[in-house]
Amino acid sequence: MRIDIITIFPEIFESPFSYSIIKRAKEKGIVDIHFHQLRDYSTNKHKNVDDYPYGGGAGMVMMIEPIAACIDALKDERNYDEIIYTSPDGELLNQKVSNQISTFENIIILCGHYKGVDERVRQYYITREISIGNYVLSGGELAAIVLCDSIIRIIPGVLNDETSALSDSFQNNLLAPPVYTRPANFKEMIVPDILLSGNDNEIMKWRYEKALERTKHSRPDMYNESD
Ligand code: ADE
Repeated sequence: MRIDIITIFPEIFESPFSYSIIKRAKEKGIVDIHFHQLRDYSTNKHKNVDDYPYGGGAGMVMMIEPIAACIDALKDERNYDEIIYTSPDGELLNQKVSNQISTFENIIILCGHYKGVDERVRQYYITREISIGNYVLSGGELAAIVLCDSIIRIIPGVLNDETSALSDSFQNNLLAPPVYTRPANFKEMIVPDILLSGNDNEIMKWRYEKALERTKHSRPDMYNESD
């Protein structure tokens, strides 16, 4: 999968994309991430990418010209499955959305700033808007990082044990069951016997029941969807 990220702050991505699962996915060649500094597409001598809003009001608006130039240059090179704009107005990110996007070959993610982008970018260039939650971030970069992480980790071959992504919370509309590791007894806090029994069938049943219980308790909204 190829991901092209358009941003005025490519440096924000350096650390989150240099460790753990994303690092491994890049090293294995499963994901190829490219950053595009939006200012490089500005024709303005100060490399501005924003301007005052027509009609007045507070805040600046990201201009269409540099964004269009960048997206057009990318589209000249290859076809894209989706051109995503990270925005609090977008559809809420959930596991189903991540699963779907993870099957794509090429995507662009545009990170917004200030008061947002000129509406014509959204009308004519963006194919999908995604929000990571009902709160406003200072920019789209953090949302793009969350989106990329959730997509990349489920691409087949990224995790060593492929079943481990499938058993994550949310993949079947249930939270994951509790997990334990050694010691079996820590200051009289005891690991459930069933997990030490070696009976795989019973363990599977126990995990399913616990997943239901946990979902019902912590996320009744999800529990009702899982019927
Ligand atoms: N940009 C600012 N806030 C955001 C959010 N909640 N989700 C996605 N992008 C954003």
